Amino acid sequence: MKVLVSGAGGQLGTDLLAAFGRPGHHDVLGATRSEMDLAERSSVLAAVTGWRPELIVNAGAWTAVDACESDPDRAFRVNALGPRHLAEAAARVGAHLVHVSTDYVFDGTKDDPYTEWDPTAPASVYGRSKLAGEQEVLAGAPGAAVIRTAWVCGVHGANMVKTVLRLSAGGGPLRFVDDQHGCPTFTDDLAGMIYRLGVDRRPGLFHVTNQGPTTWFGFARDVVAAAGRDPGMIEPITTAELDPPRPAPRPRNSVLDNAALRLSGVPLLAEHHEPLERTVAALLA
Ligand SMILES: NC(=O)c1ccc[n+]([C@@H]2O[C@H](COP(=O)([O-])OP(=O)(O)OC[C@H]3O[C@@H](n4cnc5c(N)ncnc54)[C@H](OP(=O)(O)O)[C@@H]3O)[C@@H](O)[C@H]2O)c1
Repeated sequence: MKVLVSGAGGQLGTDLLAAFGRPGHHDVLGATRSEMDLAERSSVLAAVTGWRPELIVNAGAWTAVDACESDPDRAFRVNALGPRHLAEAAARVGAHLVHVSTDYVFDGTKDDPYTEWDPTAPASVYGRSKLAGEQEVLAGAPGAAVIRTAWVCGVHGANMVKTVLRLSAGGGPLRFVDDQHGCPTFTDDLAGMIYRLGVDRRPGLFHVTNQGPTTWFGFARDVVAAAGRDPGMIEPITTAELDPPRPAPRPRNSVLDNAALRLSGVPLLAEHHEPLERTVAALLA
């Protein structure tokens, strides 16, 4: 199958290229922003109609959550119009489109995990722009899939695991919020599930995360412990105690019930400690 991965230079995009590009698997083309700018319709149409992929996986987005608050036009240009352009291009060549979205489409006020059928209510510009992107894909590309994930980390790019490893190398104390809940999700596992759903051409909305909720405080402690350092250097604070406060509100509850996978009988991704150990070992090797 000919597979086009957009946002190919990002942390998830890099592992998607690895998953689809394994020897003997698929003919994969990775497009970074300079090769296909999602915000530019002509750029997207030229790349897609030029290469004519059978599957397009979009891992590209403007993911600077706080910066989105002060530049909503850029956020919507990339995160909402970008998916519109991809949907149009996918329809032109008959490609199946898989688009990646986020827990930030929810405001986090629900006490239980969010299913795919819960009403959305984004509280940030980033979340509103990503929700608009979902709507563009589902309306514009019949049979497309939208995969919502959360708390993404891996070996490539910037993420919480790398930040904690860097900061904890100098000793503590380090403070992390203990009142935001989510499931850390590792890019190699996530790429594997996107591979499976994409090759299957499964349509619709899916929540895909590693299993096992924690808080940023709990996760930071686990990262430090996995590195053989003292988890006692990590201290809990509340979101209200963050100084300075962050411009974009974060959901208090980001836990996504992978209900569509579960009810379809698809095995869920591993509990997050398993990929965490593997990722920390790779980063410290
Ligand atoms: N990170 C998380 O915790 C998280 C959580 C939930 C959902 N997600 C979603 O997961 C997906 C992958 O995220 P990630 O963590 O891999 O993000 P990332 O590392 O920031 O990668 C995003 C990629 O998109 C590219 N991009 C930005 N603007 C673009 C444009 N106009 N045209 C083409 N490409 C563009 C970026 O390229 P440049 O660097 O050149 O700008 C970057 O390589 C995104 O849809 C994100 O919304 C992420």
